[in-house]
Amino acid sequence: MTANKNLIAFDRVSLGFFPTPLEALDRVGAQLGIRLLIKRDDLNGFGGGGNKVRKLEFILPEALASGADTLITTGGLQSNHARIVAAAARKLGLHPLLALEGKAPAGAQGNLLLDRLFDAEIVFVDSTEDAGGPVALLEAQAERVKSRGGKPYIIPLGGAGARGALGYIHAVRETQAQLESAGLPPPDFLVVSAGTGSTLAALHVGARWLWPSTQVIGITVSRKDETAYRAGVARQATEAAELAGLGGTWTADDIVIDTGYFAPGYGEPSDGGVAAIRLLAREEGVLLDPVYTAKGFDGLIGLVRRQRIPQGSSVLFVHTGGLPALYHFADRLAATGA
Ligand SMILES: Cc1ncc(COP(=O)(O)O)c(C=O)c1O
Repeated sequence: MTANKNLIAFDRVSLGFFPTPLEALDRVGAQLGIRLLIKRDDLNGFGGGGNKVRKLEFILPEALASGADTLITTGGLQSNHARIVAAAARKLGLHPLLALEGKAPAGAQGNLLLDRLFDAEIVFVDSTEDAGGPVALLEAQAERVKSRGGKPYIIPLGGAGARGALGYIHAVRETQAQLESAGLPPPDFLVVSAGTGSTLAALHVGARWLWPSTQVIGITVSRKDETAYRAGVARQATEAAELAGLGGTWTADDIVIDTGYFAPGYGEPSDGGVAAIRLLAREEGVLLDPVYTAKGFDGLIGLVRRQRIPQGSSVLFVHTGGLPALYHFADRLAATGA
């Protein structure tokens, strides 16, 4: 890959606190027989933290340049992405409009509570599919904003897209600097949870750029057709690399996604995920969220148990945040003694 001129040239709105810590999880690493590092993007601080902060730092300059006064996005009732968009809108003096899938609940907990605290305008839609899918839903909301005299800017589901991906290409560079100053080589494996797959795509690009021998593995948190999903991640990676000025073209065969850990479904905690939450809390004082990172870490454990990740490997787990959802699932977590 060639030098990264464009990557440096992009405008960035500063929201989070970087670099985020790179922490050794020695106790759990020893139990698994690997050298385990965790990139603490849950600790990037802005609006409750998480992976969307890095993405938005690169998306928002375009929103500001467009003269928008309203940021619109969509997600589930417990969307971390929607919560951080709401916080970012407030920080920039813009109006947040969230189209959330689900029935308006009587109370508010977890991310929805934080959306309320950020005083977001929330539109509840029974089913995104009935609304014609997320793109049509967002466009309909944009028309509504225009008809009341506003100027909307749409941020796609999950902050997906090449611009947002720049944030996670940067994250690899940031991590490389941390490894260098600790005298450590690049990891043998990088494991991350995957929703839209855009974080995975960007990490893939960053790794191909700086860590040629690192294997990047995504653990999907929702049921998806694996071949189409891998093709989608490859397309996102290719687009992001082009925008970043790094070059590179990938196909589905270049992308590794483990589909074994999403059950029972998106947004529903799994037994393995809850066990992973308990393990990291008990052994390391680190909190995972039930929807994304718990399933991702359960996947990491499974990869080690199946020896897909061999004993003695160095493994980097990227903690993408999502902690507000822990409180939403308090009953489930308490029921298992977590
Ligand atoms: C906490 C957390 N982790 C991981 C992801 C997945 O990121 P992506 O949509 O880029 O795959 C999300 C997306 O909403 C998230 O909120």
